[in-house]
Amino acid sequence: MRFAGKNAVVTGGASGIGKATALRLAEEGAQVWIGDIDEAGGRDLAETSNGRIHFQRTDVMQADDIEALMQAADAAGGLNVVFNNAGAGGSRDPIDQISPDDWDRTQALLLRSVALGIRYAAPLMIARGGGAIVNTASIAALQTGAAPTAYSVAKAGVLHLTTMAAADLSRYDIRVNAVCPGFITTNIFTSALGISGDKRTQANGAIGHIATRAQPLQRAGRAEDIAAAVAYLASDDASFVTGTHITVDGGMTIGPRHSWDPQVPSLFASLEAFAG
Ligand SMILES: NC(=O)c1ccc[n+]([C@@H]2O[C@H](COP(=O)([O-])OP(=O)(O)OC[C@H]3O[C@@H](n4cnc5c(N)ncnc54)[C@H](O)[C@@H]3O)[C@@H](O)[C@H]2O)c1
Repeated sequence: MRFAGKNAVVTGGASGIGKATALRLAEEGAQVWIGDIDEAGGRDLAETSNGRIHFQRTDVMQADDIEALMQAADAAGGLNVVFNNAGAGGSRDPIDQISPDDWDRTQALLLRSVALGIRYAAPLMIARGGGAIVNTASIAALQTGAAPTAYSVAKAGVLHLTTMAAADLSRYDIRVNAVCPGFITTNIFTSALGISGDKRTQANGAIGHIATRAQPLQRAGRAEDIAAAVAYLASDDASFVTGTHITVDGGMTIGPRHSWDPQVPSLFASLEAFAG
């Protein structure tokens, strides 16, 4: 019960990583305000939470919506925890083809939203003497090959925003950290391709299968894996941790595939045929 008596905000809380984190924080005692554009999903979660999760329609592209969400949680007795997490795939165009508007929209959804989440949470936390903020970045912030360019650059921005905000806010006892998920089986992939209904269920089955063998640990990454790291960073267990990130990726960023997958030959294995 690390969050007993605390109030938390989770953006993108109607699905995937945000939903799992809202449930985890509520399970550990928090009152949680989820903000999302998915009204059906958000209401559904709130209704089944025994009054511990509250839904407020929030579009993180809209500054006023973000500010109102922070104020709703604060009005319940103080805002203690914020998880800036809402997101989607953004433009998949390569850098030589992306339009200026698509670039701006992707940055606004994935980076500006996090900056504004911190912007509107911080004054409320300062007034109450501190708090903890966690931002969702990605392994795409750390290396190429994980996601499209605009998305990856936005997530890299989230990581540096995390360190800058940690520096700005440490004097107020506000900690700011990030989580870098690897390949996590959520609806983000089917949403990016506009796949819904029965086909979404089938596609998610296929994604789960691919995810099992995508990284050194041979199981699919789950939203709950990320929720556990976020709960740690948001809790007093991490009271001396700020300005950093935790990578939760089953080892995907360990190194090249041949370093951990015996089915992919290393350079030396490929050269053995030439050796005496
Ligand atoms: N799933 C992965 O493999 C993975 C990996 C790295 C990072 N991430 C990041 O994790 C975060 C959560 O994604 P997920 O995988 O849980 O996907 P998801 O699609 O299951 O959940 C994303 C949620 O964000 C909401 N959302 C989208 N646009 C919004 C907006 N403008 N305003 C408010 N809410 C909005 C969606 O409605 C949805 O409920 C995202 O920031 C994503 O980039 C995911």
